[in-house]
Amino acid sequence: MTVGDAPPLFCARQLRIAFAGASGPVEAVSGVSLEVRSGEVLGLVGESGSGKSLTCRSTIRLLPHRARLTADDLSFEGRDLLALSDRELRDHRARNVGMVFQDPFSCLDPTMRVGEQIAETLRVNAGMDKSAARQRALEMMELVDIGQPDRRYLAYPHELSGGMRQRVAIAIAVSCRPKLLVADEPTTALDVTTQAQILALLQRLRQETGMALLLVSHDFGVIAQMCDRVAVMYGGYVVESGPVTSVYRAPLHPYTRALLSAIPAIESAGKRVRRTGIPGQPPGIGEILTGCPFVPRCTLAQTACTTIDMKLQEVSPGHANACPVTTEAANASPVTAGDNGARSVPPAGLPGVNAAMDVHHAVPSADGAEHLMQP
Ligand SMILES: Nc1ncnc2c1ncn2[C@@H]1O[C@H](COP(=O)(O)OP(=O)(O)OP(=O)(O)O)[C@@H](O)[C@H]1O
Ligand code: SF4
Ligand SMILES: [Mg+2]
Repeated sequence: MTVGDAPPLFCARQLRIAFAGASGPVEAVSGVSLEVRSGEVLGLVGESGSGKSLTCRSTIRLLPHRARLTADDLSFEGRDLLALSDRELRDHRARNVGMVFQDPFSCLDPTMRVGEQIAETLRVNAGMDKSAARQRALEMMELVDIGQPDRRYLAYPHELSGGMRQRVAIAIAVSCRPKLLVADEPTTALDVTTQAQILALLQRLRQETGMALLLVSHDFGVIAQMCDRVAVMYGGYVVESGPVTSVYRAPLHPYTRALLSAIPAIESAGKRVRRTGIPGQPPGIGEILTGCPFVPRCTLAQTACTTIDMKLQEVSPGHANACPVTTEAANASPVTAGDNGARSVPPAGLPGVNAAMDVHHAVPSADGAEHLMQP
């Protein structure tokens, strides 16, 4: 069975998460639709505040106290997460999904030895006795490449480096063999070398265990190297999703194109390529009430964009776009094999991305996008 044939492990349709505001609820996630299939790696990418973390937390319905979550469908292996009793929800959290966050301190108890924290998870979530849990915790420490596990078992979090703490957090998250590991920017707080080690560890664990991975990153290079598919988030919506090669080769949504253009480049075809950030700011929570949230920053914006229904439309197999303007253009002038189509956005020039993709990304023509993100 290929990844594409696998049934969805996690599925969200029209996921909305709102907070109480001074004059009524304000939406932080406004209609996210995505799915993670068994064994695959789905990348979630987008600017700060786009709703990535809240979307991740919906996999276990672990949201801030004041948040209200609704969805047309929120399910895990076909089971409705919104219908789970408290006990069933606890069981789902313990068995099915492991979470790793940017800051491992947020999930480690500073007053408890790290080995005991892994063992405690195994006792509570897997019902192991003390001795079996200790033995398994030591094995987990070896699995995540923590050298001298006997000695490190007794260390407190503050006695370990950031990278080691993240390995402990990963050991806790995967200790009960979850079907899905959610890693929310797991390397952002680490130096470049440690980042690469942690990503390699996640990749290896995924291959060895067969678990699926939902990986959040700001870095399209990381997404390109690690993921099978990607979902691009903006302003509380998934604006584009698809196989990572397809999205990178032929990004459709103007925001995805801008995001790829904003990757700092060193050089391309022997020439220096100047990159800029994306002009303007992403919308704050509750700022965009109707239509496309990218309107204020989009060079292709039309009056109709302020009232469009933000729905993903499939443009090619598995590749969907929420921008009707560029979808129409792509349908009118599809990128064909051998057509590099790259009239506007130069190759990303990011060694990690290009090495992973071995492509220069191509943009569908006939939509005016050549003026999109000129420096
Ligand atoms: N407890 C909360 N109360 C009010 N608003 C919140 C709360 N938690 C998150 N938000 C808002 O919801 C929006 C989405 O937050 P989220 O943390 O999911 O963004 P993100 O994409 O993960 O950003 P980052 O890349 O900075 O982690 C943001 O505007 C954020 O300010
Ligand atoms: S063209 Fe319109 S709908 Fe498409 S991204 Fe720009 S503002 Fe949004
Ligand atoms: Mg976040």
